[in-house]
Amino acid sequence: MAHDEQARTDRPPDDSATGSPDNPPAALSRRALLTGAASLAGFTAAQSVLSSLNAAPIASPGQEDPTRIPGHPPTPYGQRSAFERAARLAGAASSLTPLQALHGILTPSALHFERHHNGVPVIEPTRHRLLVHGLVEQPMTFTLEEITRFPSRSRLAFIECSGNSGGEWQTPAGRTVQETHGLFSTSEWTGVPLALLLREAGAKPEATWMLAEGSDAGAMTRSIPLARALEEALICYAQNGEALRPEQGYPLRLLLPGWEVNANIKWLRRLKLGAAPFMTRDETAHYTDLMPDGTARQFTLDMDAKSVITSPSGGQQVRAGFVEIRGLAWSGRGRITRVDVSTDGGHTWRQAQLDDPVLPKCATAFRFPWRWDGQEAILQSRCTDETGYVQPTRQALVSVRGINSYYHYNAIHSWLVTMDGAVRNVHV
Ligand code: CO
Repeated sequence: MAHDEQARTDRPPDDSATGSPDNPPAALSRRALLTGAASLAGFTAAQSVLSSLNAAPIASPGQEDPTRIPGHPPTPYGQRSAFERAARLAGAASSLTPLQALHGILTPSALHFERHHNGVPVIEPTRHRLLVHGLVEQPMTFTLEEITRFPSRSRLAFIECSGNSGGEWQTPAGRTVQETHGLFSTSEWTGVPLALLLREAGAKPEATWMLAEGSDAGAMTRSIPLARALEEALICYAQNGEALRPEQGYPLRLLLPGWEVNANIKWLRRLKLGAAPFMTRDETAHYTDLMPDGTARQFTLDMDAKSVITSPSGGQQVRAGFVEIRGLAWSGRGRITRVDVSTDGGHTWRQAQLDDPVLPKCATAFRFPWRWDGQEAILQSRCTDETGYVQPTRQALVSVRGINSYYHYNAIHSWLVTMDGAVRNVHV
């Protein structure tokens, strides 16, 4: 199955389940001894071997019989198993979530993708302030402690970089789903509704746009249409039950569910209300979409519906027989209503099963049972959201948008399974 690739690449250095013929692994030796221990003599021999093993220094964790030695005591802050190796792929200014290694819809905070424009700032929370000004009755400054006292809410939501899959516009560039779709993560976010904070400051009727600014060294700054932000935006201070991670905006970030993550300003320090967009660098020079006719789309904030098969996916290995095809689907415009899967490159489609919960603007897990017969196959998923929007084919997307864009690539993704079971990214 596909997870075997995972096991190979994520294997700890001294896995006792393997070993060369000359040097059998300890776990196998013990099992062989215990299996043959029907006689008292055999049992005693096994015992003495186990005793000597226990007396020996522990070469690496996991080589001892865990029923023979006390485990470690409780710890103040948990770590995952030393045998787990799933990791972000980190570049200079971003890192990618290992979607192929995850289960369900939530992204562990430590594996949430990152994108920053001048590094992750270190912010002392008691010194942090949020200024609300511009077209308001009363400019106000909030401490973190003041913000957390407001009525709050928690919700699950995905966030996706508008550059996610951007490498796929021209060629099948990414090898793995981490490389093609890893600028996508899902968390439970907790914060104060933006509408509540703005009620305190008294937004003036002529205010239609809001500038949001971060206190990182890039001073990321975006203009946001106010009416829609007031519906759902949260000023977040928590992620997956604990304070935000520094990479996700500690101590405060703006959450705009379903909108490109670049507008979800991290390390949030300023909100300014105005009567027009502010035309900042990050919405003029960057984060626009160049169309075939030379014009550019601007303020393309909604993330369109998209799905991808995470297993089997690029770089994994398929074995003949039963394979559960697994993946994620999401829409910035609401709930996913349906996912279809094709194993023949889009000629025929069948409906996948959706796992609960199916939440608006949140990752939805889908599953599809498949039996691989050893022949070449092209695996695809295609999602539909509650607005009726259907994820486009690559040809349909490119016919409208051309190939000069970098952002907002949401085409149906294809994984080729070759006859030797290898999985490769292809464009069909
Ligand atoms: Co955009």
